[in-house]
Amino acid sequence: MGATLRSATAADIAAIEALLSAAALPTTGIGEIVRATPNDAVVAEREGAIVAAGALEVVGTGAALLRSIVVRDDQRSTGIGRALVLRLLANADARDLDLYLLTTTADRWFPQFGFVPADRASAPSAIANTWEFKTGCSQTAVAMMRPAGGTREPAAS
Ligand SMILES: CC(C)(COP(=O)(O)OP(=O)(O)OC[C@H]1O[C@@H](n2cnc3c(N)ncnc32)[C@H](O)[C@@H]1OP(=O)(O)O)[C@@H](O)C(=O)NCCC(=O)NCCS
Repeated sequence: MGATLRSATAADIAAIEALLSAAALPTTGIGEIVRATPNDAVVAEREGAIVAAGALEVVGTGAALLRSIVVRDDQRSTGIGRALVLRLLANADARDLDLYLLTTTADRWFPQFGFVPADRASAPSAIANTWEFKTGCSQTAVAMMRPAGGTREPAAS
């Protein structure tokens, strides 16, 4: 993929927000995540430029939003997005977090990571009360979830 993944720092916030805005994704709250829990925000750097970003917004206990996943348009389809999400999933799985997301654009991209469509009403209240669920994403956005550790296989009978 030719890019290096690392935790974000406060110095990256403006570049992350620019990537999100260019992809018409919300920037609300991303700066707070980077400042408060920098290991929950990941950037991909290439030739000195931030070319991709993504974050976990951990809420309550045991759940988080996977949010702000973006790859600069001229860097897409080289595996950066997948590598970035896998790093965030490893972080989430190490803490046993169920993950939720909302998307209007990528509901056919996230299933490769074990996300399945979810009923918004079934999200735990800590997730339902996030800015993204309440106001940040349109009601037509698809909600998806991935249980901690990935999709659970049905028990053998
Ligand atoms: C979705 C996104 C993060 C994928 O990043 P990426 O680095 O291009 O992804 P990868 O290189 O790991 O994977 C590319 C593959 O996924 C496919 N793909 C990319 N975006 C897709 C989408 N929205 N829906 C379905 N498939 C998609 C590509 O066609 C490609 O398939 P191929 O390998 O068969 O050619 C990137 O396209 C992006 O930033 N989109 C705009 C922002 C967005 O929609 N974010 C997600 C919502 S929060």
